[in-house]
Amino acid sequence: MKGLATWLAVALAAGLPGLVSGERLAKRDSSSTVTLTVNPSGGNASSPLLYGIMFEDMDHSGDGGIHGQLLQNNGFQGDNPGLTAYESIGDVTIAQDMDHPVSDAIHSSLQVAVNANATGFVGFANTGYDGVPVMKTTYLCEFWMLGNYSGNITLQLVGSSSGKVYASHNMTVVSSEEFTNHQTTFNSSASSDGNNEWRLLFDSALVPNGTLNFGLVQLFPPTFNTRSNGLREDVATFVDDIKPSFLRFPGGNNLEGLQIDTRWQWNLTIGPVVDRPGRESDWFYPNTDALGLDEYLWWCEDMNMEPVLAVWDGKSYGGILSGTDLQPYVDDILNELEYLLGPSNSTYGSLRAQNGRKDPWPVNYIEIGNEDDLTGGCDTYPDRFTQIYDAINGSYPNITLIASTITESCLPSDPPAGVVYDYHYYREPDALVAMFNLWDNQPRSQPVMVGEYGCRNTSATDGVFWSSILCSCSEAVHMIGLERNSDVVRMAAYAPLLQHFGYTSWSPTLFGFDSSPDSLTPGTSYYVQQMFSANRGTTILPVDTDADFGPVYWVASKNNTAYIVKLANYGAEKKTVHVNVPNTTTGVLERLSGSEYATNQPHEIKVRPNSKTVTSSQGNYTIHMDPWGVAVLSVTSGATALHFSLGAIIAWQICIFLPQLL
Ligand SMILES: *[C@@H]1O[C@H](CO)[C@@H](O)[C@H](O)[C@H]1NC(C)=O
Ligand SMILES: *[C@@H]1O[C@H](CO)[C@@H](O)[C@H](O)[C@H]1NC(C)=O
Ligand SMILES: *[C@@H]1O[C@H](CO)[C@@H](O)[C@H](O)[C@H]1NC(C)=O
Ligand SMILES: *[C@@H]1O[C@H](CO)[C@@H](O)[C@H](O)[C@H]1NC(C)=O
Ligand SMILES: *[C@@H]1O[C@H](CO)[C@@H](O)[C@H](O)[C@H]1NC(C)=O
Ligand SMILES: *[C@@H]1O[C@H](CO)[C@@H](O)[C@H](O)[C@H]1NC(C)=O
Ligand SMILES: *[C@@H]1O[C@H](CO)[C@@H](O)[C@H](O)[C@H]1NC(C)=O
Ligand SMILES: *[C@@H]1O[C@H](CO)[C@@H](O)[C@H](O)[C@H]1NC(C)=O
Ligand SMILES: *[C@@H]1O[C@H](CO)[C@@H](O)[C@H](O)[C@H]1NC(C)=O
Ligand SMILES: *[C@@H]1O[C@H](CO)[C@@H](O)[C@H](O)[C@H]1NC(C)=O
Ligand SMILES: *[C@@H]1O[C@H](CO)[C@@H](O)[C@H](O)[C@H]1NC(C)=O
Ligand SMILES: *[C@@H]1O[C@H](CO)[C@@H](O)[C@H](O)[C@H]1NC(C)=O
Repeated sequence: MKGLATWLAVALAAGLPGLVSGERLAKRDSSSTVTLTVNPSGGNASSPLLYGIMFEDMDHSGDGGIHGQLLQNNGFQGDNPGLTAYESIGDVTIAQDMDHPVSDAIHSSLQVAVNANATGFVGFANTGYDGVPVMKTTYLCEFWMLGNYSGNITLQLVGSSSGKVYASHNMTVVSSEEFTNHQTTFNSSASSDGNNEWRLLFDSALVPNGTLNFGLVQLFPPTFNTRSNGLREDVATFVDDIKPSFLRFPGGNNLEGLQIDTRWQWNLTIGPVVDRPGRESDWFYPNTDALGLDEYLWWCEDMNMEPVLAVWDGKSYGGILSGTDLQPYVDDILNELEYLLGPSNSTYGSLRAQNGRKDPWPVNYIEIGNEDDLTGGCDTYPDRFTQIYDAINGSYPNITLIASTITESCLPSDPPAGVVYDYHYYREPDALVAMFNLWDNQPRSQPVMVGEYGCRNTSATDGVFWSSILCSCSEAVHMIGLERNSDVVRMAAYAPLLQHFGYTSWSPTLFGFDSSPDSLTPGTSYYVQQMFSANRGTTILPVDTDADFGPVYWVASKNNTAYIVKLANYGAEKKTVHVNVPNTTTGVLERLSGSEYATNQPHEIKVRPNSKTVTSSQGNYTIHMDPWGVAVLSVTSGATALHFSLGAIIAWQICIFLPQLL
């Protein structure tokens, strides 16, 4: 309801006619050229955190996604794990064994019973998340083992259908009637597809008619920044290329829990992975929580992102706690903050040091819950918010606290100064464009975080699976609106970030991949995020023009080396935009375009941005905007022109070696 009211308010403020179904908003300014003059002085400061990312484990974005561990169901977590992803190899019988827990947290192991007629090497396979990515690289493998065995164990990476062996590695193991940990590394050659499995084999002759148990099997390719229990290097690099400046985590819905007991609990996601029980998530599959609280913070540190940590605030989908019932959970938030921020000789701070991080984590932003205007949270949120706000603010007055809604009726009547308000929206392209000026009249004393947004073209005939140029252009228009208001819109994140193809429960996402090589596929919206985020001004500049916004939208900014003009043409006609940036001569123009419904499909990247050097003797640049086109012009500001023309020459040399798409 709030969304509709906002849309109407915006539509009225913009003087828009009622939309006829199928009519595009674009037909407002029919002239084919737009002239813009950037005024280098004046303007408002832009939030340095504006473009960031939001992450929660959904669409197997964490386990089976950005987290490096490749084997599925390794801890038998969740409500009904069964033998998912396991297969027997040779004459053995495999079973989930709850009588032999690996630890207090990992309640089951895999029992491998050797049949009387078994010969040679036998064991089991794990087929990963719809296959195991097999690359020419070095893998780290770790497992726990119980049972009487002294001899070789062979670890392999094998084509599931082809039987082709890409890696085969022997390790000598001495195992007893207690679980012990075994680790090794091995090299592999590359598979041409993702239809592969990992195998653990042992000599059946050494286990006549007996059983062996294996627990918490783990397989890692190289990790980002070579962190142990880290992120996949290839996937994380793809995120890093967006140059995000904050990470909102761990949810999203996945913070809340389908029930109170299955909420995300910080203290169950820290320490050795063998001590993390995992949970049935809000997205109907188990989370191992191997990507836990500290791993999120290493991720932030490695990508130079500001952590935006959400804490559980009493709302789950199966029940809501408030008042005195909530107090133990508020106390637990303070434990969590001592873990993150306390000195290494405090109770929880010492636990952090023991887990590998001596210095406190730099946590400056905390969000209280998730979407408390929804799923029954509204009535009690004013009280729950105040209770948690007072507790955190009392101990950590410097932390900026974020309310999980902007809906007034769900907030305290007189909220404390300095609170940031989080608002989420997923809209069809026209509706997102209609929200261009959503924040123009936002009171400057009430800053905003757009913690989730994105175009979802639910009326597209081919479904919402993957972003199209139309959607990506509408996002660019909307982001221009966010940037114009980035004195008050502090942070914004497209969501969701990524998916493992085949495990999609919500789409589109910025990018996706599967177990096959080179499967990382950016959606068209990925490029819009990258173009906008990689080109950031510190000051939003006034622009002089006779033109009205629509179909062409723009925002200009500067930082200490460049002027930046971002443009989007939300219309079916080509447009010519003359941009004047006084006293500049050289720049780079990056453009993204394609037909209205052009998409990048899994494994099929058809749309990419292209970039070229532009020059002008008087600071006048002519930019041809394709229908639904998005462009970023960055020109070198006078003082360092010499400096930057060198960069331009290098950029030019790169350009001539790239196939020109336009
Ligand atoms: C600066 O912010 C004010 C609102 O506080 C707005 O009216 C003005 O247009 C902004 N200037 C620029 C250049 O964005
Ligand atoms: C070995 O015995 C199992 C039953 O214990 C049977 O299912 C399997 O077919 C036998 N394998 C061979 C090669 O005879
Ligand atoms: C165990 O593996 C090693 C290394 O591959 C090999 O040299 C050795 O012969 C194997 N041992 C047995 C008993 O097969
Ligand atoms: C591994 O050990 C097995 C027997 O233990 C042997 O047959 C095989 O050749 C060894 N493989 C390698 C690569 O050493
Ligand atoms: C372990 O297995 C070996 C041979 O497989 C056997 O000789 C030995 O008795 C077993 N030890 C125990 C404690 O079961
Ligand atoms: C294998 O073990 C089962 C029970 O554990 C027993 O009934 C059977 O006789 C054994 N078979 C052999 C060949 O030792
Ligand atoms: C986690 O925190 C809760 C709440 O304080 C506590 O009851 C529980 O014992 C803790 N669990 C572990 C494993 O530390
Ligand atoms: C922690 O160390 C600081 C100085 O390093 C000291 O002042 C403080 O008393 C210690 N706190 C505890 C709980 O030991
Ligand atoms: C808050 O920030 C100020 C200024 O940076 C600093 O002096 C003060 O110690 C901080 N207070 C706390 C509780 O961290
Ligand atoms: C300034 O803008 C240029 C052009 O977009 C960009 O390459 C550079 O990284 C920006 N500088 C800073 C400090 O953000
Ligand atoms: C352009 O440069 C000239 C000479 O340095 C200067 O006088 C003029 O003010 C500049 N114009 C703008 C708009 O900055
Ligand atoms: C450059 O742009 C300015 C301002 O838009 C205009 O006055 C001037 O005539 C232009 N110069 C050229 C060569 O187009």
